[in-house]
Amino acid sequence: MSNQDQQPPADVVARCHELTNQLNYHNKQYYLLDQPEIPDAEYDRLFQELKSLEQAFPPLLTESSPTQRVGALPLTEFETVLHEMPMLSLDNAFSAEDMQAFDKRLKERLKQADELEYSCEPKFDGIAVSLLYRDGVLERGATRGDGTTGENITQNVRTIGSIPLRLQGDDYPAVLEVRGEIFMPKRGFEQLNQRAIARGEKIFVNPRNAAAGSLRQLDSTVTARRPLVMCAYNVGYVEGELKGAHAQILLQLQGWGFVVSEELSVVDGVQGCLNYYAQLEQRRAGLAYDIDGIVFKVNSIPLQRRLGFVSRAPRWAIAHKFPAQEEITRLNDVEFQVGRTGAITPVARLEPVFVGGVTVSNATLHNRDEIQRLGVRIGDSVIVRRAGDVIPKVVAVVPGKNGENRREISFPEHCPVCGSLVETLEGEAVARCSGGLVCEAQRKEAIKHFASRQAMDIDGLGDKLVEQLVDEGLIHQVADLFTLSCEQIAGLERMGLKSAENLLRALDVSRETTLSRFLFSLGIREVGQATARNLAQYFGSLEKLVQAEIEALMEVDDVGPVVAHFVHDFFQQDNNLKAVEALKTAGVHWQEIDPVEQQDLPLAGKTYVLTGSLETMTRDHAKELLLAKGAKVAGSVSAKTHCVVAGPGAGAKRAKAEKLNIEIMDEATFLSFMESL
Ligand code: IVH
Repeated sequence: MSNQDQQPPADVVARCHELTNQLNYHNKQYYLLDQPEIPDAEYDRLFQELKSLEQAFPPLLTESSPTQRVGALPLTEFETVLHEMPMLSLDNAFSAEDMQAFDKRLKERLKQADELEYSCEPKFDGIAVSLLYRDGVLERGATRGDGTTGENITQNVRTIGSIPLRLQGDDYPAVLEVRGEIFMPKRGFEQLNQRAIARGEKIFVNPRNAAAGSLRQLDSTVTARRPLVMCAYNVGYVEGELKGAHAQILLQLQGWGFVVSEELSVVDGVQGCLNYYAQLEQRRAGLAYDIDGIVFKVNSIPLQRRLGFVSRAPRWAIAHKFPAQEEITRLNDVEFQVGRTGAITPVARLEPVFVGGVTVSNATLHNRDEIQRLGVRIGDSVIVRRAGDVIPKVVAVVPGKNGENRREISFPEHCPVCGSLVETLEGEAVARCSGGLVCEAQRKEAIKHFASRQAMDIDGLGDKLVEQLVDEGLIHQVADLFTLSCEQIAGLERMGLKSAENLLRALDVSRETTLSRFLFSLGIREVGQATARNLAQYFGSLEKLVQAEIEALMEVDDVGPVVAHFVHDFFQQDNNLKAVEALKTAGVHWQEIDPVEQQDLPLAGKTYVLTGSLETMTRDHAKELLLAKGAKVAGSVSAKTHCVVAGPGAGAKRAKAEKLNIEIMDEATFLSFMESL
């Protein structure tokens, strides 16, 4: 039965009102005040619910419905501007089926059977802006506002480096309106927040809010200090006509000095769109900026014209959203975990929630200050963020949604594991258990670290097994690992004779190691893999390092006074020296390197870059091979790079190497080259 003319039932009308009120409220929080209280995904759900009610019961649809609007009313502090052409919004697709339906709709409307060509671009998570150029000179910058009128933010956009004040070349139209997104790259966002924390100021929940807040500054010198970028994605009003399809127009904009997404691509048909979506979703976490989906646009401008618009969005474009990175859930409890260095981390136990593509039930609350800053209590509704492989975290409390039984979180004064006093050193945000290796938690973590892949690489000795071994009292310190018997191991849960033998073999193999791995595995504070390597190379032997004074330690690459003190202190402590001795007695050994010989290694002075995936070994392993021959291994390609080892999937780094005429080796060539040395 169709609901076309049917009077909607009372409960539907009521729900419709409720949704309208909620959406209007959240619109204001988001667009006007830069203080969203709910995650975008929650907003999208409310929006979609209202939209489908209106579709099912057309009498419910009014012109003032939030589904018919584009943004929010402009702020009053800025002058308002009338857009020459309205700045529209985009329809969303949340699944492959939505995308297929979109593509089908267009083909039907165009009465065409051939595949359509789509331009694909990331959907940047920032603020839409319009930039008006007259005779090549930036005349006005404006926000989208409600789509018809926006705010004049010319002074602010003028401070953004990626926005040309004057267009390059001379083939631009007399009047050109460029549209795009201003956003804050992830790195800049983190740094901005870190500075804010250091000064005790309010921090931004996510890069989008930070970008919005930065643009809404009445004082443009504040904007100028914020790391903002603008990417152009469309044109608005143009005097005359630009040549070519949408993607070509974007490249033309690039020629005039704009930044255009390096991910811009043109594909055929909906399958092309879905492939593009899948490959960018894979790389999402590694991108320098937040994106919340892909925008697909019909590439041909004449076809765009034929398709036209519906109320708030073009028919020829759609945003295929990624799984949300922020969701609402309830904070059920807080537990305190003790790390390898005694650092006490409050961990939020959450009502399980699907976010960033996985179900999350734990999130970090960092430290005591963070709990205070968030003003969070047990029982609160909170926003959880999980971006890529980053540890999920609680980023905000949802106001007004919190029940009666909220409970204050009390930070422990004694270690929850060993009962030792918890200390917070001056100037440090972290509280630490003062128990050292007396603390079972710290001991367990130290042993897990020792066994880990980058350290002693003891195959099969995972976290769970370490916990069992310590819990059963079979080991107290790392050296005890090497005296375990087959029976002891085989007797443990989920272990048998076979796995016990395997572990013993792995322990045996791990005895032969390198000085740098050994140093790293000791878990000296602030001594990561790179520092361990530098220390090993500089001193060449453990004895020399143990005897080194602070001054000598500071001679080593990347070792400053703080690290030097940690290293020095470590080897001053008797129990540490005993642990090292015990390991040597247990048969752990390595080849000492004569530091002088470093210069004579075949690849001394050469810098290598590894990129793409390797088939016969991990990149870490390849790196070790290179380091052992005296090469340096860098993360990025520059004029100083001597050679790039590129496996399948290599992209930008390989391209840059080609451009700079740097030697490129595939894996097979690399292997035979290494063998020839
Ligand atoms: S095209 C008429 N392309 O998404 C077409 N929009 O929900 C209008 N956005 O307000 C937009 N990245 O702020 C387009 N590559 C992209 C985009 C993009 C982000 C934003 C834009 C717009 C919103 C629509």
